Amino acid sequence: MRELPATYPFTQPIVGMIWAQTNTGVIGADGGMPWHLPEDLAHFKRVTLGHPVVMGRKTWESFPDKFRPLPDRTNIVVTRRQGWAGTPEASGAVVLDSVEEALVEAQFSPGGNEVWVIGGGQIFEQTSEHCNVAVVTVINTDVTGDTQAPVLGSEWAFRGATPAEGWHTSKNGTEYRITLWAKGETEFEAPE
Ligand SMILES: NC(=O)c1ccc[n+]([C@@H]2O[C@H](COP(=O)([O-])OP(=O)(O)OC[C@H]3O[C@@H](n4cnc5c(N)ncnc54)[C@H](OP(=O)(O)O)[C@@H]3O)[C@@H](O)[C@H]2O)c1
Repeated sequence: MRELPATYPFTQPIVGMIWAQTNTGVIGADGGMPWHLPEDLAHFKRVTLGHPVVMGRKTWESFPDKFRPLPDRTNIVVTRRQGWAGTPEASGAVVLDSVEEALVEAQFSPGGNEVWVIGGGQIFEQTSEHCNVAVVTVINTDVTGDTQAPVLGSEWAFRGATPAEGWHTSKNGTEYRITLWAKGETEFEAPE
């Protein structure tokens, strides 16, 4: 198995999902993430920078004020709350009231040849059918939480991991690996 590169030179429009999960698929707890993994934040930035990101209102609110909007990315946030777009809380976000609209808006935003759905659980659940790539960091922990990653069905194929076997070890001791999944028909080859 080949190691994944730091960036992915995709040759076709990508609507990707990116998340970090525990061994059992937990992605969130109490409105946040129940781990601290700086290397994964750096990886997330490397993958998403320059491309639109689509998220649910709860994920947006999980970012500290000073980290939102995520810089150099159009931040598209979905909510059903009428009038939320006009509140200070929404400052810096493009606010829409449906995930389908959000995905279309994203593809017309700067860097929209690659769109990244960044969560959380509700939004992954509703968008995975429209996505063709999933970049999943698996953290070697069984910590519990209240939000789960989507289950990737048989239409998704495993395309590689870094490290190819075993785990990276964070400078804080946390073990993790990054895995790549794509839908069967996606013309994607993990580059050398
Ligand atoms: N580990 C990771 O990689 C990762 C990534 C992202 C998030 N997370 C974690 O996941 C948790 C948040 O996930 P979550 O599932 O609770 O919430 P979420 O998906 O971030 O946001 C849910 C909100 O999105 C809006 N929404 C959902 N479906 C919609 C639709 N069809 N049309 C319009 N608006 C819609 C609603 O907002 P309104 O209530 O305003 O109507 C809903 O409450 C947090 O713990 C966060 O830290 C983890």
